[in-house]
Amino acid sequence: LAFTGPALRAQAPVPANIQAAVDAAFAKYKGLKEGKNADYIPALAKVDPNLFGIAVVTADGKVYSAGDLKTEVSIQSISKVFTMAQVIQEQGMDSIAKRIGVDATGARFNSIIAIEGVRTVVGTGAPEMNPLVNPGAISATSMVTGASKDDVWNKIIGIHNDFAGRSLTVLQDVYKSEADTNQRNQAIGALMFAYGYIKTDWQQAVDLYTKQCSIGVNAKDLATMAATLAFGGKNPVTNKQVMDPAKVPGVLAVMATAGLYDDSGKWLYRTGLPGKSGVGGGLIAVSPGKFGIAVVSPPLDDAGNSVRAQNAIADISNALHGNPL
Ligand code: DON
Repeated sequence: LAFTGPALRAQAPVPANIQAAVDAAFAKYKGLKEGKNADYIPALAKVDPNLFGIAVVTADGKVYSAGDLKTEVSIQSISKVFTMAQVIQEQGMDSIAKRIGVDATGARFNSIIAIEGVRTVVGTGAPEMNPLVNPGAISATSMVTGASKDDVWNKIIGIHNDFAGRSLTVLQDVYKSEADTNQRNQAIGALMFAYGYIKTDWQQAVDLYTKQCSIGVNAKDLATMAATLAFGGKNPVTNKQVMDPAKVPGVLAVMATAGLYDDSGKWLYRTGLPGKSGVGGGLIAVSPGKFGIAVVSPPLDDAGNSVRAQNAIADISNALHGNPL
């Protein structure tokens, strides 16, 4: 993946409008063959690697798009953003900061070493963990309150629906495939319970986390979710206020810090935008006050981020920022 820094980008022609920027990125990266579908969850290996959809949603709820807007992929780790949003909305900014932390771990998203790392600094007031890596994400899922497992699930799917502006469903084949192969996440859940981060049934938390990762979304859904974050928690398509505006910066901050795994810094350096990737091939980015953008394209780079999505979003967002809306 060629790195194009700000100096190089400044010389690139700036498309005149949003649709032109979207079309240009689609044409440029459609044939790109870099990257490989995730295969540690067997169902993900079977998804068509040519699937490619781009969507941008602006303040007026208008959708600019190219490619496949219909085919759903599993949301995977992008769900971590919205479950975190649910906990922040329900229990306040401090709930996440105090129980889980909002710092980068410096380790891979499913690292167990990161849990032990946190153990060594707990008590110093500096937990180096966040809700966008698996230990923090499973803990965040465990923090969603409810009288029953169904109640908790209804809140989790409910906030995803509100952000997307429609009723989403779980891709059952992905859910089953991941549930059959998620022993590592079960170990993470058990450890987080043992260390007191998870205070409820850890097996329930791991199962609901696995289920939330299997929610089916298309590029338009993801872009609408990103746009809702861009416009102070108000979905610009449905006009529903999904979360308090004052709480949105907390969500964006963790996305900026940890949204693209170990490559979060490189991504932020390239685009300046909080983003979040998922191993299903989705990637969202938020330009506060301007637009939400998402790309779906399954082949991932070594860090686990969609290759076409990173390139397309970087091109489009830089074109739009160079040509203010
Ligand atoms: O926990 C997993 O392995 C997947 N359900 C999610 C992986 C993913 O997208 C990575 N995220 N940070």
